[in-house]
Amino acid sequence: MSDDTAELEARLAAQDSFEPPSSFVEQANASDPAIYDEFEAEWPECWRAAADLLDWESPYDTVLDDSNPPFYEWFTGGSLNASANCLDRHLDERGSSVAIEWIGELGETRTYTYEALHREVNEFAAGLRSLGVEEDDVVTMYMPMVPELPIAMLACARIGAPHSVVFAGFSAEALTTRMESAGSEYLITCDGYYRRGDPLEHKGKSDDGVAGVDHDVTSVVVDRLEDAYDHPMADDEHDYDELVADHAGETVAPVSRDAEDMLFLMYTSGTTGQPKGVKHTTGGYLAWTSWTSQNVLDITPEDTYWCSADIGWITGHSYIVYGPLALGTTSVMYEGTPDYPEKDRLWEIVEEYSVTQLYTAPTAIRAFMKWGEEYPAGHDLSSLRLLGTVGEPINPRAWKWYYTHIGNEACPIIDTWWQTETGGMMVTTLPGVGTMKPGSAGPPLPGVDVEIVDVSGEPVEAGQAGYLTVQKPWPGMLRTLYQNDERFIEEYWAEYSDVDSDDPDDWVYFPEDGAKLDEDGYITVLGRVDDVINVSGHRLGTMEIESAIVGVEGVAEAAVVGGNHDVKGQAVYAYAITEEGAEEGKELESAIISGVEDAIGPIARPEAVVFTPELPKTRSGKIMRRLLEDIANDDELGNTSTLRNPEVVEAIDQKVNAD
Ligand code: PRX
Repeated sequence: MSDDTAELEARLAAQDSFEPPSSFVEQANASDPAIYDEFEAEWPECWRAAADLLDWESPYDTVLDDSNPPFYEWFTGGSLNASANCLDRHLDERGSSVAIEWIGELGETRTYTYEALHREVNEFAAGLRSLGVEEDDVVTMYMPMVPELPIAMLACARIGAPHSVVFAGFSAEALTTRMESAGSEYLITCDGYYRRGDPLEHKGKSDDGVAGVDHDVTSVVVDRLEDAYDHPMADDEHDYDELVADHAGETVAPVSRDAEDMLFLMYTSGTTGQPKGVKHTTGGYLAWTSWTSQNVLDITPEDTYWCSADIGWITGHSYIVYGPLALGTTSVMYEGTPDYPEKDRLWEIVEEYSVTQLYTAPTAIRAFMKWGEEYPAGHDLSSLRLLGTVGEPINPRAWKWYYTHIGNEACPIIDTWWQTETGGMMVTTLPGVGTMKPGSAGPPLPGVDVEIVDVSGEPVEAGQAGYLTVQKPWPGMLRTLYQNDERFIEEYWAEYSDVDSDDPDDWVYFPEDGAKLDEDGYITVLGRVDDVINVSGHRLGTMEIESAIVGVEGVAEAAVVGGNHDVKGQAVYAYAITEEGAEEGKELESAIISGVEDAIGPIARPEAVVFTPELPKTRSGKIMRRLLEDIANDDELGNTSTLRNPEVVEAIDQKVNAD
């Protein structure tokens, strides 16, 4: 560290709040603090402001229908099409402006103007129709960051077929479960992709996933690897390029969708082993992602905005595809990893494309810090106007590093708390309005009613920790879990609501996060309070991982916990009990690791596997994960007095943390 840097870091370390730079405030889309009071006074009518950002085919007559909580409906009576909002309406004014700037892993690029994107979305929509896809059919997509993914999403939106994108890093088994659960008869996949310059085959995994599905599946295959990988095509598989060529020049009228019609499904992890199919709608979701893109990401059509998430997760859906394109901006899409070919790859892209906003995850920022400030320092990053983070808590040190070394102390940082279920951002400062406090996401957005409560649902005092709750509905909220209203209520509402009541005031949404409130109403999110682990900002259910481990021959029982990890935030630590006669050791450990990779994907790969004769359990037989976490983190062990077998904790601790 140079003397200058040391001095700077010492100065910043002492500072716990930052004002947004006046140069930013002067041009910000939202800069009037009165917005908080106005939205509160006018709730729920305030959300007309979000709906007004969209083009409606027929106007809505009610902003919020709360007659049947928690099945809230927004902008009822209105109809619109998401693809028309992201494409058609921009053609006159900015048809030749860039919609998607795609940067491939091998350094190749593809630039889609709004006109070009509109053309290909239409052709592919026509292609999908020719394969039999009809309105309301769920189309699954299993692809990495190739342009065909957002094209396919928008083509589905155009014909009113909800999409269900499965992260390409997930396993074949995960694909099967999601296709089965959604009754999805169509799949858009690819032959493979590039990682660190090498081709990586994907189709085999995709085929295995389809083979597990009980019903017939028609597939479209994107030929990303071209000559680098030859694969046969079955009768029910169609080549993407050929399909588009067959429909060259065709247009498909956007199907008029009711505001409450499903736009997409996204499966996410929860407390039980079975992933949850989160249902988002056309009107509310698109209004929410557009409004937050405008007021939090500060997007204008003139920007070159970059969200470095993967479209396989909700962040990519909301803030690479729908929000930015609805606002007519240029959205950058990067296929590769941040350290290939060199550790300055992101900064090279920011410089080359004059990126104006960068939205990334704390796990990435921690990696950048580890690599060193010389990588960003070698590039001109002065085009940046705003920085954002999402997915997990960011510690003040990482925040300040981001602020200084990437933002040059000239960009506000938005630390945005939200989840798959909320559709878009919920808690964050408005960058043109609020003081920033590193480590704290900030106040809830205007019109968003978040309260931190104790176990009995009473608001906690400033300075206290409690559970984050959302007390009023919002347009971007999930409407239900696909074909499972009962689980929807059970998972999100039962904790703090009177589930027999028809009064919306009695219904409180519980996102399963712990949080702390300060005297200014700022919220610091502490992390999940359910059995969900957040690895590099990706949500994994402990139950899913445990059932994969127990599925391995030789394993009788397993428990997994999230232990602290420098870069990933949390990593998976697995504890396993062997079956009678099975041998503990390297071989079984490898079988467990590949068992998890096969069932879920490499992101869930355990960092360590510990064999133990017993797991710590309460008298009622519940595994005490808290103690296993203490062991994984080499922390002082918590209270063991309620355990049936307290001696086992000491034994495991000895084994893991012997030195
Ligand atoms: O625990 C919270 C954490 O990520 C969870 C949601 O994960 P997912 O549905 O995959 O969506 C991630 C992208 C929105 C939350 O329940 N989380 C998300 N953002 C933050 C966060 N934790 C702390 N600070 C954040 N800014």
